[in-house]
Amino acid sequence: MVQEKRINVGLIGCGNIGAGGHLPAYAHIPEAELVAVCDVAEELAQAAAERSGATAYTDYRRLLERKDIEMVDLCVPTYLHAQLAVEAMRAGKNVLCEKPMAHILKAADAMIEAAQANGVKLMIGQVRRFDHRYASIKAQIDAGKVGRPVFIRRAERQFLPFPPEAWQWDPKRGGGVILDIGVHATDLFRWLFDEGATEVYAVARSVRKAAREAGSFDHAMITCKFPGGRVGFAEASWAYPQGFGGTLYAQLDVVGTKGKIQYADKDTNPMLTYTTEKGHELPRYFRFMSTTEYAFEEEIRYFVRCILEDQEPFVSPQDARAALEMALAAQRSAEEGRPVPLPLKKGGEDD
Ligand SMILES: NC(=O)c1ccc[n+]([C@@H]2O[C@H](COP(=O)([O-])OP(=O)(O)OC[C@H]3O[C@@H](n4cnc5c(N)ncnc54)[C@H](O)[C@@H]3O)[C@@H](O)[C@H]2O)c1
Repeated sequence: MVQEKRINVGLIGCGNIGAGGHLPAYAHIPEAELVAVCDVAEELAQAAAERSGATAYTDYRRLLERKDIEMVDLCVPTYLHAQLAVEAMRAGKNVLCEKPMAHILKAADAMIEAAQANGVKLMIGQVRRFDHRYASIKAQIDAGKVGRPVFIRRAERQFLPFPPEAWQWDPKRGGGVILDIGVHATDLFRWLFDEGATEVYAVARSVRKAAREAGSFDHAMITCKFPGGRVGFAEASWAYPQGFGGTLYAQLDVVGTKGKIQYADKDTNPMLTYTTEKGHELPRYFRFMSTTEYAFEEEIRYFVRCILEDQEPFVSPQDARAALEMALAAQRSAEEGRPVPLPLKKGGEDD
């Protein structure tokens, strides 16, 4: 029997999404073997090692020294993405890195350069693209079902349970809700419209005490202009009341010249497509599922296959950089109270 090709993976960051979303996915991906896990918090590294059978590390440099590791899965806080990704790529590893790509554009550019200089693959985990709900919407748009999409309305609403000192609230380490959640929306807009934005305008607030104390935004309304008068509008929020209906409540409406697709997590008919030809249709039944149930597995399996088959991922580092640039423009817009044109100026504060 021919032995299936497999690659060895090291997971760095065993917190919320590393241990909760990525680690369990490896049990379902036969092409990948999780051989090493790392966290500066020793108890988290040990717990991840016990669950997976991998070797635990507290210093990521020891993990990167291992020659048998071909892929590194980075689930560390956002402000550390670029530093660890660049070191991993210099050590010859292919890197799957959580979103947002980085906290500033200069860091994102360093990641792109390191991937090119070291001949390795880099993919940012824009996980919504691997979520079958949004992939189905994208397929319906590409099939011309609703004509040319002209308006997209998105909402991602959460309650964030962390204390004010958590990195997520810190404008410098996590970027607040605009970078952390808004980047899912900016990437969705670019993907579904299939082009880049020209201008971003955002109004944002610090609603919860934790956001006010940390000096970051936890609620944002982001309007993104696209060529030809197309518009993407997103509500990104961590300010919803605890237990209001799950950890994440998402909605997406795509309005096209010949129809509309609407999706809402919590509705009885969560997805509905309206076309001028056929009226309303339920294209498929979608039970409510959280992204962690399957989309991380799809994302990781896809990247592993890209490595094994030497294919460039369809979510390019440039795509992730562009989504980050839009989120940074939204941040600037909310701070300054004015629309911000894209691309952002080189050498500016966000660079
Ligand atoms: N795709 C999604 O839907 C999604 C969801 C949640 C988080 N994320 C992203 O994942 C990343 C991690 O978020 P999280 O919620 O898991 O955060 P977290 O704080 O729960 O986990 C991060 C872990 O990294 C560890 N760490 C920090 N520095 C380290 C280092 N130098 N070496 C090794 N480990 C180190 C921390 O100890 C912590 O356990 C963030 O960039 C976040 O934006 C993505």
